[in-house]
Amino acid sequence: MNIDEKEVQKKWKDSVAEILKRFPERKETFLTSSVIEVERLYYPSEVDSTYMDKLGFPGEYPYTRGIQPTMYRSKYWTMRQYAGFGSAKETNKRFRYLLEQGQTGLSVAFDLPTQIGYDSDDPMAEGEVGKVGVAIDTLYDMEDLLEKIPLDQVSTSMTINAPASILLCMYIAVGEKQGVPMEKLTGTIQNDILKEYIARGTYIFPPKPSMRLITNIFEYCQKFVPKFNTISISGYHIREAGSTAVQEAAFTIANGMAYVDAAIESGMDVDSFAPRLAFFFNAHNNFFEEIAKFRAARRVWAKIMKEHYQAKNPKSWKLRFHTQTGGSTLTAQQPDNNIVRVTLQALAAVLGGTQSLHTNSRDEALALPTEESARIALRTQQIIAHESGVADTIDPLGGSYYLEALTDKIEAEVEIYLKRINELGGAVSAVEEGYMQREIHRTAYETQRKIEKDEEIIVGLNKFTIEEEVNPELLKVDEELEREQKAKLQSIKEKRDSEMVESTLKQLKWAASQADENLMPYILNAVKAYASVGEICNVLRQEFGEYGSI
Ligand code: 3HC
Repeated sequence: MNIDEKEVQKKWKDSVAEILKRFPERKETFLTSSVIEVERLYYPSEVDSTYMDKLGFPGEYPYTRGIQPTMYRSKYWTMRQYAGFGSAKETNKRFRYLLEQGQTGLSVAFDLPTQIGYDSDDPMAEGEVGKVGVAIDTLYDMEDLLEKIPLDQVSTSMTINAPASILLCMYIAVGEKQGVPMEKLTGTIQNDILKEYIARGTYIFPPKPSMRLITNIFEYCQKFVPKFNTISISGYHIREAGSTAVQEAAFTIANGMAYVDAAIESGMDVDSFAPRLAFFFNAHNNFFEEIAKFRAARRVWAKIMKEHYQAKNPKSWKLRFHTQTGGSTLTAQQPDNNIVRVTLQALAAVLGGTQSLHTNSRDEALALPTEESARIALRTQQIIAHESGVADTIDPLGGSYYLEALTDKIEAEVEIYLKRINELGGAVSAVEEGYMQREIHRTAYETQRKIEKDEEIIVGLNKFTIEEEVNPELLKVDEELEREQKAKLQSIKEKRDSEMVESTLKQLKWAASQADENLMPYILNAVKAYASVGEICNVLRQEFGEYGSI
């Protein structure tokens, strides 16, 4: 049945004209090397209801072809390299290097003690300070981390979950010190505890208080930090734990629904927080499956938000996501081969319409990346953006018989998983019951068996191997750092107003004992008094207990 073709095309053209006022396209005309003009979008000469239901136009429901009317013709995806190691000053140097090299967004990696709420001088932190990310104990470290980085111009993602509220408050406090009011701050806080229970492990508190902290951030940011994305619902780590593409998309969306339910149960209207929900996916090896996964996930989420939650604001229907190329696909063997893997994975993310992208470095199967490896990873994105031409037209693979069939199939299989999880009472119950974990472990085992039986070829690992004598130069975190970080924390504790610290921690303890208090203002006061991550988390541990503790 032919719908009113003129009508739908006019609607899209109007939304393009509207967006171009704020986001003009990068060029007057986009041409190939043979001076052939590249159209903004290619679509069937006869637009029927099937096209509109399944694909539609970019920037319009169900967003299969992308969430913005002009996509990368107006603005490339954010090139946002995950970085952080050692001290805040060292990481600040890497941040500024990457920004000088053309990176367009920041992404902070915190060390494990920070992620699990221990200070650098805690016995639990021994040997891990500054190892897999930057050590942040107090606001002083955050000030060092962000020195000379203008928070009114750079958006910062922070990969922090259980103590997310504390690090967000530190970011707000640094903004204030820079004269940037919190309503102008842009960025993302990962703040996704369910995937930590499922796959990543940096949780502290049990699910209920964790969900409270998460929805406290939703509520606080909606009022005071409206341009900050309040959660990055992550499939990346689920995939890294060994899931399939379908499981990655399904479990991530199920977790997203659990957060929406929790926010609604806390009394928030869905349109008051949903526009600031964001996602984070993996870009793995199977090129077309990954592109189809991104497109299917957008369509599934749009339908859930519009039909199931009855969200009215189109911004609530859009699945906006960051992608990181698959860390688990990198090989320690022949590390330069990883540049090729990352290129293909990054290309899949771009052809899948990502809003932000991190490209892994070739040496990350061996250590944190050297500066040279991190530069090559960034250059990979820049070459895709500026030389390949794939960003010059929207959803260029849209309409491909294979890709559309795969998108439909992935959508259907995601929906089967969602139904199953719903029967289990939703994602929180499914996590507590271990359902998702079992599904992932089964897939991971099967995959590993295929590799060991050479049924799945990993170049350089089980085929095309060489005798390798070259040991590439690797980044090493100076063991001295732990001592220096402890000394720095000690000196802060001596200098700060300890009465003020005590009083803010006492007020936080009281607020945590009240079910309906939003803890953000209390945590903000504590960080401004230079209370540490560990001190604040210990107050919350006393009130909430620890997950997995007997
Ligand atoms: N037309 C119109 N507007 C456009 C546009 C276009 N073509 N392109 C961009 N814009 C607008 C957007 O609407 C947005 O404005 P708004 O905020 O007012 O809506 C602005 O320009 C910025 O664009 P995006 O929001 O698309 O891009 P960002 O980069 O700012 O945000 C995101 C992307 C996915 C929404 C965000 O959540 C994000 O940056 N996420 C990053 C998460 C991340 O880096 N995680 C790292 C994890 S590493 C990890 O977990 C650990 C390890 O183990 C892997």
